[in-house]
Amino acid sequence: MRELERLAAERAREAVKYDKLGMKEEAVANYREAIQLLLKLIRFTEDPVVKKVYEEKAKQYKERLEALLEKSLESSYTSVKSGKEHESYLVVDPPPIKWDDVIGLEEAKKALKESIIYPSLRPEFFPLGWPRGILFFGPPGCGKTMLAAAAANEIDAVFMQVDASMIMSKWLGESEKNIASLFEEARRYEREGKPVIILIDEVDSLTTFRENEVGGEARARNQLLKEMDGLQDKGRTPRIYVIAATNKPWLLDEPFIRRFQKRIYIPLPDYHARLSMFKHYTRRLELDDDVDFGELAKLTEGYSGADISQICMEVQLKVVSEFFEKGGTDKPRKISMNDFIEVVKKVKPSVSGESFKKMMEWARKYGSAF
Ligand SMILES: Nc1ncnc2c1ncn2[C@@H]1O[C@H](COP(=O)(O)OP(=O)(O)OP(=O)(O)O)[C@@H](O)[C@H]1O
Ligand SMILES: [Mg+2]
Repeated sequence: MRELERLAAERAREAVKYDKLGMKEEAVANYREAIQLLLKLIRFTEDPVVKKVYEEKAKQYKERLEALLEKSLESSYTSVKSGKEHESYLVVDPPPIKWDDVIGLEEAKKALKESIIYPSLRPEFFPLGWPRGILFFGPPGCGKTMLAAAAANEIDAVFMQVDASMIMSKWLGESEKNIASLFEEARRYEREGKPVIILIDEVDSLTTFRENEVGGEARARNQLLKEMDGLQDKGRTPRIYVIAATNKPWLLDEPFIRRFQKRIYIPLPDYHARLSMFKHYTRRLELDDDVDFGELAKLTEGYSGADISQICMEVQLKVVSEFFEKGGTDKPRKISMNDFIEVVKKVKPSVSGESFKKMMEWARKYGSAF
């Protein structure tokens, strides 16, 4: 595995090098080999995070390869595009989420409005500045990404979403440089007059040692701290907001935590939120009269928003596949309470009691918005 990975990285490096030099044939050959090796790695890798990294890289190289091949068809002398193209893979259209689509989490919404929306609308009302760094911590699947997207949509911000584990990957080169160019790009957008929201997912992987990385963790982390500090001085406060998200806040160290003055706990949905989620996610399904949302909300204590939306999907699938299997001709039957109960039994809550306890301890110590 290691050897395979080393080979793939080497091919990729060569490919990029030739590509930059405009040596198309050599670049194409090396991209091809790198992709082959990556595909092999993808088949053998079990770790989902690492797999994702490989997949993303393979996709990127493929696109580049195709572009190169296409270009060589249309003209033989086009020069290689500048590095700019590579940088902006970070800017994404935020999913079209509005505040109201995010169920519950009122405290978190309020904190976001206070630290991003109001300062962005009227910076002159904030002579003392505002928190630059916001940390979302909490169990997976409870709305962290949704909230960041909602904030970005609200102020029509440029939305840059990065996976920390991706930044740390040697596939993209040296991690501290990746971070520097991320912020450089953000500043460029900001100078053009747009607010920028940077969402750094899985930020804990910046501070923890990952077996598969080359060991740039400390440098990457320090670069991020430096960039965060740089957002503060120079008289003028740019409208760049950094949101970091983590499911394992206890892995973060003190200097890091200090940079994120606003630390917002994104908890599991409570009874009322679960009730609203069931209503929301079944609004387009045909339900029997016996479906009792209150009861469902009670049965799903400890489940995340993602779990609940998955339950609703599964229930839909259940009656639809039953319909097809029976060779039905009209339409699927209505969904009953029993269908829900069966599915709830099968879909286990994705958050364990142990990590919940750890989370609460951390929240008590460091949380700044409840
Ligand atoms: N508060 C919520 N309101 C409505 N839907 C929710 C909520 N929380 C989670 N969901 C559902 O779960 C999905 C995942 O949510 P989201 O991506 O925001 O979670 P996350 O906290 O970022 O998770 P992760 O830590 O895994 O990145 C959403 O697309 C949505 O379907
Ligand atoms: Mg997320």
